[in-house]
Amino acid sequence: MARALLAAVATGSLGFCLADAVEGDCKDGEQQGLSFIQAKAMARDPASKKAVEYHWGSGRGNFPEYAVSHATAPFELAKKIAWTWSHPMGRFATLTYGTAIDHQRNIYLSGADGVRKFDESGKQLWEYESLPAEMMDAPSLHDGKVIGSDTKGNVVALDMETGKVVWKSKVAKEIGQDNGFTMAKGGVALAACDWRNPGPKGEANHRIQALNASTGNLMWSYEPDNPVWNFLPLFVDDGDFVFQDLTGKAYRVDLHTGNVLWKNGGLDGTWTDGGAAVGNGMVFTVHNNEKAPLDGLTEFNPGTLSAFNLKTGDLVWKVVTPRPPNNAPAVGKVRNLDGLSVVMPVCQQVVPGSNCDVHVYSADNGNLQWVFHGPQQTGLLQAGDMEGLAFRTARGVRGMCLPNGWSAPSIDAEGTVFVGNEEGNLYALRDVDGNGVIYGDDEMQSFDTKVLRTWA
Ligand SMILES: *[C@@H]1O[C@H](CO)[C@@H](O)[C@H](O)[C@H]1NC(C)=O
Repeated sequence: MARALLAAVATGSLGFCLADAVEGDCKDGEQQGLSFIQAKAMARDPASKKAVEYHWGSGRGNFPEYAVSHATAPFELAKKIAWTWSHPMGRFATLTYGTAIDHQRNIYLSGADGVRKFDESGKQLWEYESLPAEMMDAPSLHDGKVIGSDTKGNVVALDMETGKVVWKSKVAKEIGQDNGFTMAKGGVALAACDWRNPGPKGEANHRIQALNASTGNLMWSYEPDNPVWNFLPLFVDDGDFVFQDLTGKAYRVDLHTGNVLWKNGGLDGTWTDGGAAVGNGMVFTVHNNEKAPLDGLTEFNPGTLSAFNLKTGDLVWKVVTPRPPNNAPAVGKVRNLDGLSVVMPVCQQVVPGSNCDVHVYSADNGNLQWVFHGPQQTGLLQAGDMEGLAFRTARGVRGMCLPNGWSAPSIDAEGTVFVGNEEGNLYALRDVDGNGVIYGDDEMQSFDTKVLRTWA
């Protein structure tokens, strides 16, 4: 995928990247709406002692409405590009993952080679170089720090102003190259770690580590029933968070002690690079319905989207998806639909010719509300993966990424859905006529990131 940083579009989630080319995803790139840049800053008055509220404080946005922005993004993406950035050594010199946006519209971008800060005009303000460790996870902004993790097993806090290390704590021998999220709230930072065998597809992160976000001191660690992939913890109140493991099992955990309040769901022996979402008093998880390793991966391998009661962990509803639901859905108000919806991209990456769709379900009962028939994988691999292999390898970052077919979607203030695809397009989707299908220029706009190539 063209990993040029699009003006405010970025948010990276592409599956996991690496050479164990099974079908991971280089990371889930979640792409986000173009427009935070144009949005109004929401900085609180510094004189009031309230904490500053960042525009988009993590790779998945802000508590409590993750993946939903209070700003409106431009629908006509291709016409509204404000600026682009590519690595000065060439667009394949790094792989980009997560973006966060602060109260002053500055953008923090993690990549295989470190973290960079840009101002709203695209000017780079600082750079933190991490090689040979790679920063494969989306970092979070917390109390003046950018907190992320690297593949050498470190959780790192950088000063948002200077990019200098505030603390760096080794929490495991390795942290996986999947594309998870380092999340922080209430003085606690969470990261997945302990990358090792066994797992349904080989190595995976086995442990969750909580750290004191001010000092980097280790607080507690927890090993779930199965490893995690693209670890995405979501806070549900001041004291708890939820996440899913790679079988789709949901957990609600006490943030300060690591005690499990409930766990439920999942399908043993399966593997997904999808993630959880919260909203409507529920936790949503995804899993594949075939045991791993899949016997002949196809675009038609079904999966399941499940909704659990946030308080009790009881299953509220579940639906079978006709393609793998292998990304974190977004829960929010989608244009022209009543109540809250679950936006669920479905697609099997790394299968040439496979089709990618986006399904939107009612958050109340799982009824299908609209469908977008997206693009087909045209190449052997996703856009940019093969093309940049030699350059990346020579430069010392991982050769391939194998990103998820779709990024994790986001929803803007008008209920437009923004989602990136493995073929290199970022889409804006809305069902204007309410007929349940996204079709036509008024309902679908896209921007081809490959037009931004800055190499010969
Ligand atoms: C983090 O450490 C500081 C300094 O020891 C302490 O005051 C604070 O309470 C700790 N935070 C948490 C969440 O434990």
